Amino acid sequence: MNYENILTENEEGILRITVNRPSKLNALNKDTIQELHLAFKNAQSDPDVKVIILTGSGEKAFVAGADISEFFDYSAREGKQLAAEGQAKLFDYVANFPKPVIAAVNGFALGGGLELAMAAHFRIASNNAKMGLPEVSLGVIPGYGGTQRLPQLVGKGRAMEMIMTAGMIDANQALQYNLVNHVTTQEELLDFAGNLANKIMRNSLVAISSAIKAINANFEDGVNGFETEIEEFGRCFGTDDFQEGTTAFLNKRKAEFPGK
Ligand code: COA
Repeated sequence: MNYENILTENEEGILRITVNRPSKLNALNKDTIQELHLAFKNAQSDPDVKVIILTGSGEKAFVAGADISEFFDYSAREGKQLAAEGQAKLFDYVANFPKPVIAAVNGFALGGGLELAMAAHFRIASNNAKMGLPEVSLGVIPGYGGTQRLPQLVGKGRAMEMIMTAGMIDANQALQYNLVNHVTTQEELLDFAGNLANKIMRNSLVAISSAIKAINANFEDGVNGFETEIEEFGRCFGTDDFQEGTTAFLNKRKAEFPGK
């Protein structure tokens, strides 16, 4: 599939999706959001995709936010629709994606960029990365899940401070805040993410998919995460991966998961 604003490359089961508008610091315009949606949708049904690494092109930015030039003249109704569509098409879609999604934050992750990184299942940053939700400096608030996901990751007080000050934190502070799991050099970032993806791929991807669902249930209103866990735990027992994993363990051999 040919895209204009993103690059996709599958290397041995690891699909790298790169937001590719470096002259605009990879800002998310509508077309880019649509292309990301399509890339994820295709990845969902593609058995050759096991893990996704999301990153930005160039050395400066992961994604510097939603494309401000596209929405500066929107009405209240259009603004609401922008947030609703974006959340459904991309941010919630990524957060609930059944295959692991790692954000490799290679530079500025601001506004929608940080929201995209936070929608991923976990984050790694290079030491030049800068993260923040500067929306209130534009007279608006984060609209792609930032007011919900930032406090989940860093705690309410820190999220309040970051959002109210519209400031940026560097990679080390993000690590200290639990916003990212690891910090590497920029040169090592993608290899580091790739190594983690390889480690993940040795396990049952069917079980991982259930784990994503159960973990996410903890953060859903009106859903009892413990019940989701029980449901998903039970579901695993009916899979070929469970047969293989337990049999391999009992026979003291390495599991070769069929992925179903
Ligand atoms: N939307 C649209 N265009 C953006 C953008 C965004 N969120 N972020 C950067 N760009 C564009 C700039 O307009 C500029 O385009 P131009 O060369 O056609 O003028 C280009 O990307 C390079 O950005 P520039 O501001 O010149 O780089 P810088 O190194 O001086 O500053 C930032 C980098 C990230 C601090 C600055 O670009 C910025 O503050 N961006 C907006 C961040 C933001 O508020 N995001 C939240 C949006 S809701």
